[in-house]
Amino acid sequence: MIQQNLVWHPPAITKVDRQKLNKHKSCALWFTGFSGSGKSTLANQLDCELYSLGVKSYVLDGDNVRKGLNNDLGFSPEDRVENIRRVGELAKLFVDSGQIVITAFISPYRKDRNQVRSNFEQEEFMEIFIECPLDVCVSRDPKGLYQKARNNEIRDFTGIDSPYEPPVNPDLTINTEEYTVKDAVQTIVTHLRNKGIIDI
Ligand code: ADX
Repeated sequence: MIQQNLVWHPPAITKVDRQKLNKHKSCALWFTGFSGSGKSTLANQLDCELYSLGVKSYVLDGDNVRKGLNNDLGFSPEDRVENIRRVGELAKLFVDSGQIVITAFISPYRKDRNQVRSNFEQEEFMEIFIECPLDVCVSRDPKGLYQKARNNEIRDFTGIDSPYEPPVNPDLTINTEEYTVKDAVQTIVTHLRNKGIIDI
């Protein structure tokens, strides 16, 4: 056991102390959905709105985190599991730091998302399904990756030759075909107010 000689060091400043300083609670908003569904766009617009309200928030984005912390991982099932495990741990640290962390990862496997959820207090994790039909994502193809996947230039592409398991019971579903970005942001902000995470 590589962990047997580790002793948890209790932090001098607690999560509750930090939440008091920030004047809001902290939580993870876990976006899941296909590439091209609108996760990153929505995450960043929500971040802007929270910033303007004086709320401490931060976006963890799949492509960005994969360029740094997770640059040793690809898109095999095992690597995706490890990607989501690490991001789950990272999100937990952000919540512990008193912030609202918005994660924008495809996170295709239900089991992994549930595993991440189980690491949080119940009210501190919200799964938000960024719903968009695959054919719409394919037609948007903002990065040209669906075309590459169809040409067999990319393997294991989610929705093409790699599975996506939609949430069974998400805390919120945002259909990006029906919602404008502005309305989607307001829906999530209202949800945060209703759940008592922010009161501004
Ligand atoms: S996840 O499945 O492990 O959660 P993640 O969200 O980190 O994926 O990364 C997805 C992003 O990586 C996509 O938005 C896309 O830009 C890029 N990408 C490159 N190759 C693939 C692939 N095979 N499947 C899905 N996304 C890919």
